[in-house]
Amino acid sequence: MLDQYGRNIDYMRLSITDRCNLRCRYCMPQGVTCPESHDDILRYEEILRICRAALALGIAKFKITGGEPLVRKGCVDLIAELKALPGTEQVTLTTNGLLLQEKLDSLCAAGLDAVNISLDTLDTEKFRAITGYSEFSAAALRALLENCCTRGLRTKLNAVLLEENRDEVADLAALAEDFPVDVRFIELMPIGFGGSLTRVSPDEVLDTLRARWPDLHPTEEKRGNGPAHYYASERLQGRIGLIDAVSHAFCAGCNRVRLTSTGQLKPCLSFDSTADLRALLRAGCTDEELKSALEQAIYRKPRAHSFERREEMTERRTMSQIGG
Ligand code: 5AD
Ligand code: SF4
Repeated sequence: MLDQYGRNIDYMRLSITDRCNLRCRYCMPQGVTCPESHDDILRYEEILRICRAALALGIAKFKITGGEPLVRKGCVDLIAELKALPGTEQVTLTTNGLLLQEKLDSLCAAGLDAVNISLDTLDTEKFRAITGYSEFSAAALRALLENCCTRGLRTKLNAVLLEENRDEVADLAALAEDFPVDVRFIELMPIGFGGSLTRVSPDEVLDTLRARWPDLHPTEEKRGNGPAHYYASERLQGRIGLIDAVSHAFCAGCNRVRLTSTGQLKPCLSFDSTADLRALLRAGCTDEELKSALEQAIYRKPRAHSFERREEMTERRTMSQIGG
């Protein structure tokens, strides 16, 4: 459907949990607990009902996010059920990858269309410093990527640019040389704990990458639902993506809304305004009422975020509560 600024909204990110098996510094640092109880979180039937209403409005692409979606039981079945809804075009998943290897067969059988793996470093020590997890192995990551590619699962890697991985940008990007995967660098957004860390500019990244792949050039190919700018090189099988959410706002082309794990429909990352779909569902609304609530909230989607004018930002929740 079109919003008040004429943008075509056809993509919904569905957070199915605010829990995570990592503790990334910029998202859910050590010591942060997940405030939501089991009853606060939407049941899968409730999520599917919202997706049916979204489909009726022309939203046909869904991304499962979290927290870490694979820690919630039944995630794979939800994906299969979403894929089976009439009109669904695409169901994809964002994961930190820890549980991906063991779930890969069942995810592919469920019909998953693509996966985004969040990965900020290839170094075990830095991985521990960024995420609190000490078992990271680059060899296991390579085996996982090999497996995803062998199965024909479209795969992207997402690295948030941090002071810690500034010097690793070329090594991370080189994974697109070894595998047909896209490697994307995301500018840190001032959401939750991200607001207190140093931001590294994607422009700096481009200079580093050009030094290693001198023929790196912009490409207009469509590689997903998102706002990344992609670059190609003869020597790379995958593409390099830059997501400069803050320095070059891409709000004019925004196509998405978010559903939090507690059933709040969130039209823009930067503002806390939401439509409480959980309250509506649990008060026994009709399908028409649900659709109409979605329609109104999406129509009023704000024109642009306010990351550069922090005083206007009203969102106080963390990324794990919002759903990346
Ligand atoms: N800024 C940018 N990206 C973030 N993510 C989590 N918090 C932030 C932030 N403040 C990323 C995760 C994951 C994706 C879902 O969002 O690393 O790749
Ligand atoms: Fe977990 Fe992703 Fe947040 Fe890291 S960024 S703590 S992996 S939800």
